[in-house]
Amino acid sequence: MKFSQALFCLVAAVPAAADVFIKEQFNDEAWKTRWTVPSSWKSKSELGEWKHTAGAYFADENDQGIQTSENHRFYGLSAKMDKPFVSGDKELVIQYSVRHEQKLDCGGAYIKLLPGGDAFDADKFGGDTPYAVMFGPDICGSANKRTHVILNYPAKNENLLINKEIPPEKDNLSHLYTLVIRPDNTFEVFVDNKSVRSGKLEDEFDFLEPKQIKDPDAKKPADWVDIKKIPDPEDKKPEGYDDIPKEIPDPEATKPEDWSDEDDGQWEPPMIDNPEYKGEWKPKMIDNPEYKGKWEHPMIDNPDYKYDPDMYKVCKDGCTHIGFELWQVTAGTMFDDILVTDSLEEAQKFGEETFFKKKDAEKASYDKFKEEEKKKEADEEPEIDLSDFDGMGDEF
Ligand SMILES: *[C@@H]1O[C@H](CO)[C@@H](O)[C@H](O)[C@H]1NC(C)=O
Ligand SMILES: *[C@@H]1O[C@H](CO)[C@@H](O)[C@H](O)[C@H]1NC(C)=O
Repeated sequence: MKFSQALFCLVAAVPAAADVFIKEQFNDEAWKTRWTVPSSWKSKSELGEWKHTAGAYFADENDQGIQTSENHRFYGLSAKMDKPFVSGDKELVIQYSVRHEQKLDCGGAYIKLLPGGDAFDADKFGGDTPYAVMFGPDICGSANKRTHVILNYPAKNENLLINKEIPPEKDNLSHLYTLVIRPDNTFEVFVDNKSVRSGKLEDEFDFLEPKQIKDPDAKKPADWVDIKKIPDPEDKKPEGYDDIPKEIPDPEATKPEDWSDEDDGQWEPPMIDNPEYKGEWKPKMIDNPEYKGKWEHPMIDNPDYKYDPDMYKVCKDGCTHIGFELWQVTAGTMFDDILVTDSLEEAQKFGEETFFKKKDAEKASYDKFKEEEKKKEADEEPEIDLSDFDGMGDEF
C-alpha cells in the first residue's frame, strides 16, 4: 500500500469533525464580554437584570448560568457566534438547558438563532429583530404552554410555526432542549435526549402549498340525491285517525253542588289531554332507494404545488448570532450550556458532559432546598395548636 493510499484510508475512517459555532457554559466572569444586553430595545426600567449564578440549588456551585432576576421585565441578550453557520450539507443543531426556579405563570424561555452578519445591531436586538429559528419553551397562563419551533422561510417571507404544539416541561429542574434541522428536510426535537417530535418539514410546517386541491371544475350534479331517508309512500294514515280529539271533557269532573245554571251559566266539565290521542300522523321513514351517498368533491393535483428542496436552509445566508428576547412576569429562569453545532452526536456528547453529568446531583440539591424551604415556612408561621395550652398549668 502506498503512503497516499494509507492516508486515504485513515482519513476515510475518521468521520469529519463536527463544527461548533458557539458553546457557552457561563462559567467565567468574562461571559459579559461575549454577550450584549441591548441598550435601545426597551427603556432601562423595563429591562430586567441577568444574574450570573449557580442558582438556588445546583450540582456544582462553580457551575453557573444566567438567570432572569426581576419580575415584570423584558430580558434581552445576544452573542456573536464564533463563526457563521451556513445551511449546506450538514445538519443544524441548537441545544441549551433551561430551568425554572420560580412558579411559572407567564414567561418566555426560548432562544433565537439570528442571521444579520456584520449589520447585526446588538444594541437594538429585540422582539422585532428578524430571526432564522425560534426554539424553546414559552408559557403564559394555562392556555398557552408550548415549546416553540418556528422556522423562517424566506421564500414566503414568513415565520412558520410548528402545526402541532409540543408541550414544555413544567417542573423546577433543568431540561435539555435540542432541535435538529437536517438537509433532507426533516427535523427532530429532543427533550433531555428523548425524541419528542420528528418528521418532514413539509408535513409539520406550512412551507408548501397543499399537494391536492378540490377540483374547481367539479360540481355536484343537479340530480345527485343525498337525502338518506324518505317518507314511506306505502304508509297510509289509518282510517279514523283524525277523529281522535286532542282534548276531552274530564270524565271525573262533576258539577259542583252549589252550581246554579241560572246564575253561572250551563256547567261544562274542564278539558283534559286525551290519553287516546296519538299526535299528528306522520308516515314511517324508510331508506331512500335513490340515495347515492354524500357527494365528495373530487381532488386534483394542485398546479401551484412545488416541492422545495431548500426548506431546511433557515441559515441560507449564514446565521451569525444567538440571543434571548423574553418577557417574564415572574423571574427565575436559568439558561446554561448553549451549543450550536452541525452534528447531533456532538450535541449529545456535550449534553452528557453537562446536563446529564449534573442531573442527579441537581435533583438531590433541589430536594434538599425544598425541604429547607418547608422548614423555614414552618418556623415563620408557627401553627397555633390549642391543645398545647391545656398542659400549661403543669409547667408553671
Ligand atoms: C417550582 O417552584 C416554585 C417556587 O418555589 C413553586 O411555587 C412551584 O410550585 C414549583 N413547581 C413545581 C412544578 O413544583
Ligand atoms: C442520548 O441518545 C443517544 C441516541 O439515542 C444515545 O446513544 C445516548 O446514549 C443518549 N445519552 C444519554 C445520556 O441518555
